[in-house]
Amino acid sequence: EFHKMPLAEKFPHDGPLGKYNKGQLQRGLKVYSEVCSACHSLKLVSFRDFAALGYNEEQVKAIAKGWKTEVPSINPETGEPATRPGIPADRIPSPFPNEVAARAANNNALPPDLSLITKARADGPAYVYSLLIGYEETQPAELLKKFPDAKTPDGLHYNPYFANLNIAMAAPLAADDQVTYDDGTKATKAQMAKDVAAFLTWTAEPKMENRKSAGWAALIFLIIFTGLAWMSYKSIWADKK
Ligand code: HEM
Repeated sequence: EFHKMPLAEKFPHDGPLGKYNKGQLQRGLKVYSEVCSACHSLKLVSFRDFAALGYNEEQVKAIAKGWKTEVPSINPETGEPATRPGIPADRIPSPFPNEVAARAANNNALPPDLSLITKARADGPAYVYSLLIGYEETQPAELLKKFPDAKTPDGLHYNPYFANLNIAMAAPLAADDQVTYDDGTKATKAQMAKDVAAFLTWTAEPKMENRKSAGWAALIFLIIFTGLAWMSYKSIWADKK
């Protein structure tokens, strides 16, 4: 009863006719790259996939090359592990070299890869949005009365949208204007949360629009086919009274 269901947030890609809003996805990429990528990888997404958000080849190359974290590589001289700037074919890297380092930096919690997070959680896009804006300073008194063990331990943060109620991630979107949008959209907390939730919907299902249009094509075909089948039935049995 203290765990809250995701807010009923609407997205342009909702519904059978919904399409991604590329401007929104670009804003979401900006939030991801400037905020979330400090802890979370996107291992199922390559830089070149960003072309689908409306970037040209040069822009994709620049995004890969300028990425905060370099990609793991090998020093060709010594054979030692090394890093190099990204190229379009690289996956979006984790900022941590391994799980031990990731946990060490996060109070022993592991920031999950976000590629499929909107599929892994019920009502994913709305969940990500709600989680990001849903942090609360104080826990409800009734909660502590009923479940004293639910008191937020040091280093965790109370968030009623998180199934455990206490989450290791501190509110990553803490203030308005944490990023500056190129299209002039005002970067309120809610706007950034919504844009990054839309972006993470795209990472989990980049071909959603193809799926929806194939569904429509199949439906239209079936309707026509049903009509044809009905007409042939009528004509085959026409003289049998
Ligand atoms: C967990 C999103 C930024 C550290 C998560 C989860 C999501 C998420 C969806 C999974 C919650 C679940 O399991 O249901 C985001 C987004 C960010 C962001 C969209 C940017 C706006 C960050 C940053 C850090 C971080 C900057 C590190 C400073 C973590 C950690 C967890 C986590 C440690 C695991 C929490 C736990 O299991 O208690 N994040 N995150 N996140 N995130 Fe983030």
